[in-house]
Amino acid sequence: MTQPIIRLSGLDKFYGDFQALSQINLDIKTGEFFSLLGPSGCGKTTLLRSIAGFETSSAGSLHIDGQSMDGVPANKRPTNMVFQSYAIFPHMSVAENVAYGLKARKLPKVEIKARVAEAIDMVGLQGFDERASHALSGGQRQRVALARALVLKPRVLLLDEPLSALDKKLREQMQSELRRLQRAVGITFVLVTHDQEEALTMSDRIAVMFDGKIEQVASPQILYGKPSTRKVAAFIGMMNFLDAKIMTTSGDNVEVEVQSLGKLTLPLKQATGGLDGCNSVGVRPEMLTILMGSQTSEREIEAEVTEVSYYGDMTYYDVKLPAKEDPITVSMRNTAGRKVLEVGAKARVGWSTSSLLLLK
Ligand SMILES: Nc1ncnc2c1ncn2[C@@H]1O[C@H](COP(=O)(O)OP(=O)(O)O)[C@@H](O)[C@H]1O
Ligand SMILES: [Mg+2]
Repeated sequence: MTQPIIRLSGLDKFYGDFQALSQINLDIKTGEFFSLLGPSGCGKTTLLRSIAGFETSSAGSLHIDGQSMDGVPANKRPTNMVFQSYAIFPHMSVAENVAYGLKARKLPKVEIKARVAEAIDMVGLQGFDERASHALSGGQRQRVALARALVLKPRVLLLDEPLSALDKKLREQMQSELRRLQRAVGITFVLVTHDQEEALTMSDRIAVMFDGKIEQVASPQILYGKPSTRKVAAFIGMMNFLDAKIMTTSGDNVEVEVQSLGKLTLPLKQATGGLDGCNSVGVRPEMLTILMGSQTSEREIEAEVTEVSYYGDMTYYDVKLPAKEDPITVSMRNTAGRKVLEVGAKARVGWSTSSLLLLK
């Protein structure tokens, strides 16, 4: 196995009495697009700044490329950071901004010129070299900030919510460009975001953080399909929860009594984070179906529609199940011939045991 580019072991960070990071253990692989995802205030920026060398940890160790970063200042680390408020120099041209770090390193003029041109090209700002930075749009400024970081050829690029200041359309465009750029340069990217959709669409792997701790590290598909706790399941995408009580286990199966659904036998592997402490069942809205006409399903339950949200391609139904106070959500693709139900309608909700997760 190749060694990870970044290895964090037992990292703690205190600000006075307040613990911002708690026992962070994490390996990030070379060439990975890795994201730190979690709600505001959970410690993402603190962790990123610790990797960059802008924060000193209170305990634990950080290795980059096998080297201990103990006592290594930020400017001597093989990392570079793109900040949330991409602080570029407004009075300088695009080319001057991009050249800034290279000039500080006193590289030969011809090399600077070539590398600046390459970096400007990479971020799609050809022809903007002489443009004053204050005369750029938000998206273009973000590209300048990226070029300025990439031109230094860091081993790791650290990005702290780099797209949060952009509007939705531009943000989505920059997301795919950033992904393309990362593949092209092959540099390890560590992205901080509180936007789960952004993390899912861009990352090879994601660390989900709450309250200074890492809750789960996995690929987008595993995080969404097999979240290890209820907290992760609720943070990533939509998830319905039903109360569950473990009765007995036998072999590879577990007997559970589930709210509204009754007594069931589930494979143990559907307890994605282990059986200990499991007290709810999670099921994604798209794993449920509103059955029409003679349509059947492995299992079905009678429900009543309490809310209808029509999105054109999809309809989200809130439905009330017997023996459960809060409604659950069922999402349906609006295919040809499928009629949209109205509030108050009776609905047969189809489900299968294989789409239920046992969570703690
Ligand atoms: N310099 C600091 N002094 C004291 N507390 C801080 C400092 N920086 C961050 N914090 C606290 O640490 C926690 C994590 O902050 P941060 O890493 O910025 O979270 P995130 O980036 O996930 O929103 C927050 O509660 C924040 O208030
Ligand atoms: Mg932050």
